Amino acid sequence: TFKRRTLIAGNWKMNGGLAVNAGLLAELLSSSINSSSEVLVCVPSVYLAQCESTLSNTAIAYGAQDVSAHSSGAYTGEVSSTMLADFSCKYVIVGHSERRAYHHESNELVAQKALQALRSNICPIVCVGETLEQREAGKTNEIVIAQLRAVMDLLDDGALARIVVAYEPVWAIGTGKTATPEMAQDVHAVLRSTLAERSEFAAEKVRILYGGSMKPENAKELLAMPDIDGGLIGGASLKAVDFLSIVAAA
Ligand code: G3P
Repeated sequence: TFKRRTLIAGNWKMNGGLAVNAGLLAELLSSSINSSSEVLVCVPSVYLAQCESTLSNTAIAYGAQDVSAHSSGAYTGEVSSTMLADFSCKYVIVGHSERRAYHHESNELVAQKALQALRSNICPIVCVGETLEQREAGKTNEIVIAQLRAVMDLLDDGALARIVVAYEPVWAIGTGKTATPEMAQDVHAVLRSTLAERSEFAAEKVRILYGGSMKPENAKELLAMPDIDGGLIGGASLKAVDFLSIVAAA
C-alpha cells in the first residue's frame, strides 16, 4: 500500500508580526529538522513575502490560512489563489472552523475555495469537524461527511487525490481538550472511506491531519494511528520548542 508522507502543519492564526515571525522562523531553521515528515507553517497572507524570502530552499514550507473563492474582481479585502501563488505558497487552509463560525462560510463556499486553490496549483487543507453539541447529539459522522462531500462534488478524481483534509473537532480547538487517539481515528477512518466511495486512489493518497490541542505530550499517540497522517497545530506552533518536538514525534 501507498505510504503517505506525514505533514506537520502549524496554523499561526492571527498571531505574529515581522519581528516575532523572524525570531520564530530562525529558531525553527536553526534546529536541523531531520525528519521524514513535511513541515509547514500557515501564516497571515501579509507575511507570505517574509516567508518566501526566509524559507525558500529550506526544509520548511509555508502556506496561507484562507483564499477567495473568486478568481479576481470586486471582492474588497479578499486575496486570490493567483496572488498566493505569486509568493510560491504551496498550501492554503480552507474552511477552518473559525471561518465557518465567524464568517458564516458554508460547505459549498469552502468547496469553491478548495477548487480555486487547486486551479493555482496550491494544495487546499480542507478543515472539517463537529461542534460539541453535534457530537453529543451523535451527529459527528454526518457533519464531517457532509463537509467533505461538498468538496468531493466539485473536484474530479485527480484533483481530489491532491487535497489534504484536516479533522478538527471544534470542541478541541484551543481548549486543551484533545480527542483521544481512538476517537480521532474513528472519524479519520470514516473520512477515508467517504473518499474511497469516489476513488480508491484518492482515499490512499489523501493525507488526513488531526487538529485540536495537539501538543508535544499527545502528538506521538495521535500520529501512531493508522489514518492520522499528520497534525494541524495552532497554539503549540507558536513556540519553536513545542512545534519542533511535535515534528520530532512524527
Ligand atoms: O488549525 C489548528 C487549530 O485550530 C488547533 O488549534 O490551538 O487547539 O492547536 P490548537
